[in-house]
Amino acid sequence: MSKLHVQTRVNGEACEFLCDPRQSLLDSLRDELGLTGTKEGCTTGDCGACSVLLDGRLVCSCLVLAPEAEGREITTVEGVAQGEALHPVQKKILEHAALQCGVCTPGIVVAAKALIDRHPNPTEEQARYWLAGNLCRCTGYDKILRAVLDAAAEMRGEV
Ligand code: FES
Ligand code: FES
Repeated sequence: MSKLHVQTRVNGEACEFLCDPRQSLLDSLRDELGLTGTKEGCTTGDCGACSVLLDGRLVCSCLVLAPEAEGREITTVEGVAQGEALHPVQKKILEHAALQCGVCTPGIVVAAKALIDRHPNPTEEQARYWLAGNLCRCTGYDKILRAVLDAAAEMRGEV
């Protein structure tokens, strides 16, 4: 099968890659672009491990075809930190020890960043709703939730 040429922007930088027409964005990010921060869990849209932002919208990259990235803007977990400086969500996840195996963590970081970008002062209910698509088999959700709400408070300058 002939490959498709895709031109897109990932984490603020123009990039291009070749892909099978039926390849998922998840596989292209990992296999063609070497961005292995985005994790593969279920590949059926159920776990959220593969979450990325596509034109600012939170999506499961396992459910997006790679050719759909043409001309779009993608943010992966690699684009969340500012250089060496971790995003507050990343810092708070570490501070709260809100991870164990870490497979769910990149997806949670991306989803939490999207939540706080849209709702700088999220209620617990909003945060639970926003993260409902991200499954964690290790930690339970309380520490994750505390970390995300704490990160939002820090970003508002309250702590
Ligand atoms: S790997 Fe995409 S939702 Fe699970
Ligand atoms: S830390 Fe292991 S799945 Fe969440």
